[in-house]
Amino acid sequence: MVTKTNNNSSQKKESLLTPRFYTTDFKEMSELDVSSNVDEIEAIVKEFRIDYNRDHFIRDKEFTQGWNSFDNSTCDIFIEFLERSCTAEFSGFLLYKEISRNLKKQNPLLAEGFSFMSRDEARHAGFLNKAMSDFNVSLDLGFLTKNRRYTFFAPKFIFYATYLSEKIGYWRYITIYRHLEKNPNFCVYPIFRFFESWCQDENRHGDFFAAILKSQKPLLNTYESRLLCKFFLLSVFVTMYLNDIQRKDFYSTIGLERKQFDIHVIRKTNQSVGTVFPVILDTDHIEFVPLLDRCAEAHQALIGIEKEENRRAVQFLQKIPQYVKMASNLLHLYLLPVINTKYVWTEKI
Ligand SMILES: [Fe+2]
Ligand SMILES: [Fe+2]
Repeated sequence: MVTKTNNNSSQKKESLLTPRFYTTDFKEMSELDVSSNVDEIEAIVKEFRIDYNRDHFIRDKEFTQGWNSFDNSTCDIFIEFLERSCTAEFSGFLLYKEISRNLKKQNPLLAEGFSFMSRDEARHAGFLNKAMSDFNVSLDLGFLTKNRRYTFFAPKFIFYATYLSEKIGYWRYITIYRHLEKNPNFCVYPIFRFFESWCQDENRHGDFFAAILKSQKPLLNTYESRLLCKFFLLSVFVTMYLNDIQRKDFYSTIGLERKQFDIHVIRKTNQSVGTVFPVILDTDHIEFVPLLDRCAEAHQALIGIEKEENRRAVQFLQKIPQYVKMASNLLHLYLLPVINTKYVWTEKI
């Protein structure tokens, strides 16, 4: 899947935190009745049609300089960042394209929205893949399409998860952009200069999912929906936190402190989804960050055990206490009190 012309090992082991590829129940999605919020959905599709970023993703001459001045470890850090980002963007492209294709006949408005979003994600993935070529690496996207395993998510889970991942993507990109704008000496590679307009795509995608969610009131105004919103918020935040702990060198290369960055992104994302979700997390709770750190410790210990290459049975026994630690801290996080948002979804269906 990764073609390399340099000396980096390409075959990475998949884990729960590797970017995933999703599929869904297209029939159920095509039967969605979005009439209760159709005006907002139409307005967002109209914005997609304008295509603000049509001419944005064009590589300028700054990319053409050689990147040989980067030492091997900096190259590896950038390759990993580009590879993960490209895979995540490409995964969004495939999902949105498939949804659009399957909804065309029965739900043309949603199909059009998904088609525009797949256009944007294809651009993002293509731009990242071209950036990889600066480091003599490329992702074989065709191979990736055919050989990845797809995870099935029911439409409602797709809406919660993609809404959050678009919004967290927005906050990640804009935070990096604003930081480098203030500290240009850390802008060591030109791709970051593109993040400002790029993240507006992700923000609009998030708004599209928010509009769909608002058209399906039971996804926002039932007791079950409160539990699901809490669950997805926590999943997205913990996944980012555990992933980034392993990538602190990437953040320090661009002058960011990993933990500070993650907490900022978590707080901002949490606040912004409060305009849609009935509950958000209390990220200022005294136990919130320490519990995240304890999950991260367990996760790091699990990675350490994997690296030791002991016999599988030995590894399994070594892992048990770490799994218990991870599960108990996740449960504790889930049971922390939530904040009820001012949005009250009481409209009858
Ligand atoms: Fe994207
Ligand atoms: Fe997106």
